[in-house]
Amino acid sequence: MMQVQLSNVRSFLPLPYEAALAPRLRHAHRHLRRHDGAGSDFTGWVELPRDYDREEFARIKAAAKKIQGDSRALVVIGIGGSYLGARGVIECLCSANYNLKKKDTPNIYFVGNGLSSDYLSEIMELLDGVDFSVNVISKSGTTTEPAVAFRFFRRALEERYGAEGAAKRIYATTDRARGALKTLADSAGYETFVVPDDVGGRYSVLSAVGLLPIAVAGVDIDELMAGAAEMMEVCAAESMEQNPAWQYAGARYELYRHGKRIEILAAYEPNFRFMAEWWKQLYGESEGKENKGLFPASVEFTADLHSMGQYIQQGERNLLETVVRFGASRHENPVPFDEQNGDGLNFLAGKPMDFIARQAMDGTLLAHVEGGVPNIILQMGELNAHTLGELIYFFEYACGLSGYLLDVNPFDQPGVEAYKKNMFALLGKPGYEERRQELLDKLSR
Ligand code: PA5
Repeated sequence: MMQVQLSNVRSFLPLPYEAALAPRLRHAHRHLRRHDGAGSDFTGWVELPRDYDREEFARIKAAAKKIQGDSRALVVIGIGGSYLGARGVIECLCSANYNLKKKDTPNIYFVGNGLSSDYLSEIMELLDGVDFSVNVISKSGTTTEPAVAFRFFRRALEERYGAEGAAKRIYATTDRARGALKTLADSAGYETFVVPDDVGGRYSVLSAVGLLPIAVAGVDIDELMAGAAEMMEVCAAESMEQNPAWQYAGARYELYRHGKRIEILAAYEPNFRFMAEWWKQLYGESEGKENKGLFPASVEFTADLHSMGQYIQQGERNLLETVVRFGASRHENPVPFDEQNGDGLNFLAGKPMDFIARQAMDGTLLAHVEGGVPNIILQMGELNAHTLGELIYFFEYACGLSGYLLDVNPFDQPGVEAYKKNMFALLGKPGYEERRQELLDKLSR
């Protein structure tokens, strides 16, 4: 089970804070468990690893098997909470180079997560002559980016397989009963999966939203859920000593109160990059409101020590760092001996890459702490579906607690609407005429 190590945080805080913070954490914790805090309509994720729909879970596995059997590619259409979790898990467990690897599972292409016309054409080109299926994921069914992308890929499927053939290759993950996508799926006969009513996008990776694409990539989703369920049990504890989510939420909140404004999530695995993107949405969208909240950033070490390392070491001292460490790698890779030793690195010959990485981790940790950046370490076991399930639930639970500690609703996202309204106005959507004129005046100044 994971451990939250806080020994490199304490010197940044004037007093032991745990006892003072415990009653507030208990209060937040009870709101989550009793589903009676702000945004409680969207706290269904708290029990999801235990109470998920078994019948749908079996259908997800069956659909994944069918896609693996009849498709060489799966196009996953979604944005934000309907995108990042699946990509994070697939890249973390199967590699960021998953599509380039030799494998007997389909390539997976993520689209509808932006509005780049060139990117869209590129994926279309990659699908030329390739049997493919589509998983369109949208709770509302009307989000512009995925809805536009779906028009293109639905048309491509229909042109290739006919309307009936296409319908057998389209899987819609959406609201149980409402919305444009649900209506279309029902009338066209697509298989549908549910985004639970009480689970918001950024907390939905352990529902069909994440699980179908993850299963298609060959990840053991039973293990993912088992890891999450184990962490759910651990996070039920009402004590600072026993509950890692209390420890993490408490430490980052206290650091925030003492002037830290940016939390950098760091990992030493390049494949972790999209898990960090998922984490950024989770924390950014949950906490960043009412002029409050740590700004979530991420780095990939050691690569970014050669780009962001300077700032972290000596820039503005408003940073805190949370480092996700995994247990031993699967591969040893001892460094080769070189007769010439032109680079002077023969002192590393025979040492496993993992050993070198550990020294880099410890060296970086000590340098950053000495430079004034507190470090929270999340020590995980070996990287696999089980430990990733643990980590996902841990971050979700700690995020719910963090929002309540900040006294904001961690389950809404009112600020996301502002850009959408302007975009619709500029695109000439009916009903936005007044706003359109205002914006055009501003743009012409
Ligand atoms: O967390 C969220 O609620 C958002 O990121 C949504 O998931 C995102 O905007 C996509 O929405 P939808 O699934 O309705 O298309």
